[in-house]
Amino acid sequence: MKLGILKSYPEIDDLVESYAHACETCGVEYVILDLFSDDWIEQIRTSKVDGVLVREKANIAEYKEMYNERLWVINKYLHIPIYPSWHELFLYENKRMYSYFFETHGVRTPKTHVFYSKRKALDFCKHTSYPIVFKTNGGSSGTGVTVVHFQRKAQQIVNSIFGRFHSRLAFGHLPWTKVAGFFPVPKFGMSQRHYVIIQEYVDILTEWRIIKLGDTYAGYMRPLENGHGSCEKMEYGMPPIELLQLIKEISEKEKFDSLSLDVLIDKHGDYYVTEMQSLFGCWAAHQCEVNHVGGKIIYDVDHFEFVSGEDFFKYNGNVLRVDDFVKKLKVGYYYDNI
Ligand SMILES: Nc1ncnc2c1ncn2[C@@H]1O[C@H](COP(=O)(O)OP(=O)(O)O)[C@@H](O)[C@H]1O
Ligand SMILES: [Mg+2]
Repeated sequence: MKLGILKSYPEIDDLVESYAHACETCGVEYVILDLFSDDWIEQIRTSKVDGVLVREKANIAEYKEMYNERLWVINKYLHIPIYPSWHELFLYENKRMYSYFFETHGVRTPKTHVFYSKRKALDFCKHTSYPIVFKTNGGSSGTGVTVVHFQRKAQQIVNSIFGRFHSRLAFGHLPWTKVAGFFPVPKFGMSQRHYVIIQEYVDILTEWRIIKLGDTYAGYMRPLENGHGSCEKMEYGMPPIELLQLIKEISEKEKFDSLSLDVLIDKHGDYYVTEMQSLFGCWAAHQCEVNHVGGKIIYDVDHFEFVSGEDFFKYNGNVLRVDDFVKKLKVGYYYDNI
């Protein structure tokens, strides 16, 4: 058994490395394949790998397009199994697709509108009640999320996205960053043009991240910080069974290998799923804790059960991914699934 690990953007080299450590831990031979090299097809074709482990950085539309195209070629033209699956990676970092997925699969999510027409978007902004939430298709840690309280601001965003006078003249809606923590600079490379995503506002009490990697479940809360779920702080406790059941059902039905759900809980205790990711940060040793003890959750016959242990999520959860991939390859799981 030999696995390929895809290398691409240098910013995610550490995650490529963590896949390599995970392969070593599982005793699996691996080779690193460079998706950015000019002869990437030849490299992958001649590597004779049984499967390819993927990690993406897809917060910019053109990056996302590149992965969609090249992963399709690896999986569908070269017929090499990829992990996570093509379907999951196609959804990854694609908020338009999340909303279509949730609506067609009956998953409760804030009502989401995707417009490709300036006139229809402006008309919506005129008649809706505020606040509303604007989102970019990619982006993480709240970088592409704007809560808008007034129609004037909404119109301004829509005009910049579609162009005030003509779509060919659209500057796009620009996210901003601060250089040296001080100088505001527009991120031209990430400008949003020709589509708009507008979501119903949820008055959030707390947020859960629920995880399923292979047969392992986990989950933690992200306490609110400035109206957003924290990207760093984690609060623990047994995740709601309803949410564990939900991630189990989605993963099994869609044959998803590796999934996280981001779930907003509102002041009435109702839940709304806003994101689904097959690749996600898994830095903390404890992705789950019950009674101050680290561990994982398993599904045993007919119920979820907490199992204590320290090392389940080692190497960014990748030991679980490699283990799951190898098991699936060994039983011929991919013969019917490519
Ligand atoms: N519909 C919403 N109503 C209120 N707050 C929201 C809504 N959607 C997202 N948020 C807040 O913005 C944060 C980031 O949004 P999210 O959709 O998860 O995008 P990102 O990809 O940036 O994580 C969420 O964690 C939540 O705190
Ligand atoms: Mg999020």
